[in-house]
Amino acid sequence: MKTAFFDSKPYDKIWFEPLLKAAGIEYKFFEYKLSAETARLADGYDAVCIFVNDRADAAAIDALYRGGVRLIALRCSGYNNIDFAAAKGKIRIVRVPAYSPSAVAEYTMGLLLAIGRKIPRAYSRTRAGNFSINGLIGFDFEGRTAGIIGTGRIGRNFIRICSGLGMKVVAYDPYPAADSGIDYRPLSELLRVSDVISLHCPLTEETHHIICDKSISQMKDGVLIVNTSRGALIDTGALLDGLKSGKIGGAGLDVYEEEEQYFFEDCSNEVIRDEELLQLLSIPNVVMSSHQAFFTEDALRAIAEVTVDNLRTFFQGKPLKNELCLDCREVTAAR
Ligand code: NAI
Repeated sequence: MKTAFFDSKPYDKIWFEPLLKAAGIEYKFFEYKLSAETARLADGYDAVCIFVNDRADAAAIDALYRGGVRLIALRCSGYNNIDFAAAKGKIRIVRVPAYSPSAVAEYTMGLLLAIGRKIPRAYSRTRAGNFSINGLIGFDFEGRTAGIIGTGRIGRNFIRICSGLGMKVVAYDPYPAADSGIDYRPLSELLRVSDVISLHCPLTEETHHIICDKSISQMKDGVLIVNTSRGALIDTGALLDGLKSGKIGGAGLDVYEEEEQYFFEDCSNEVIRDEELLQLLSIPNVVMSSHQAFFTEDALRAIAEVTVDNLRTFFQGKPLKNELCLDCREVTAAR
């Protein structure tokens, strides 16, 4: 009953340790991210627990398997970092399907208000004694149209919040929620009519770069784009072009295509070499955060509880209700 945690941070330890001890599961927290190179740290462990920027590709999975690992427990809901074909027949995968959809949805609205009403810029100005409001003009959200791409747990929560502000909501999802009352439209129409576009779909081959030159060209001038799902839903180069030309009025980004190297780490003493990240950070109406939309006490508690339950159930040899595999409905649909 030994589990190795990768990419672990102090807050993981706080929430996981008491539950692991109570469950009688031996554990070790590694700060390294999982990769083919670091997988050998888990030699002799039965399970590994990983997060969004750990990479369980074929090479890492083979190395884990050779070292005796038989379970990968994702402590997140997204699973785009797993090679399910490589894991088949060797290592089982479990995840936390939902921990706090409201946490992510509420944060998404926070980002939207931040870019729409330019709150971070106002904050920086007043802190520096600059009380001018020139250039900080926004628009009312009431009556404007929010386009929601992906109407699963988080997307639907976000629709509830947008409706609370009096926004019109249109949505696109190839698997519409039955009897939800959601106003589904074809993607091209959503792009055309929305003042604000928010991404809540998983990263798959189909959704990779769903926001690109072509889709941006169909959007309203001055559209606001928010992404709290996965970075590679947006082609960063196309987003930058849209921001520079003024086609896109602002972007709230909690995720970034190339976030793996920087997010969750303190890089403030280093030179950032990612040119696109540097450009995004320098554009006034871009607000970026480091994949923290989920980061509430409630979500961390739920993540730890469900993950430890997943581990305990595996070690007891019982059926895994949160299992994902190559042939599972979610993974098949995502392909
Ligand atoms: P979910 O599985 O409940 O919903 C995803 C929805 O996307 C489903 O309705 C599905 O039909 C839809 N979808 C699938 N393919 C699509 C496509 N091609 N176009 C439009 N929609 C499509 O997932 P949930 O819990 O709502 O999470 C959504 C995403 O949020 C996750 O995939 C994950 O990447 C991200 N996330 C981000 C967090 C953060 O802290 N920033 C935390 C948790 C999740």
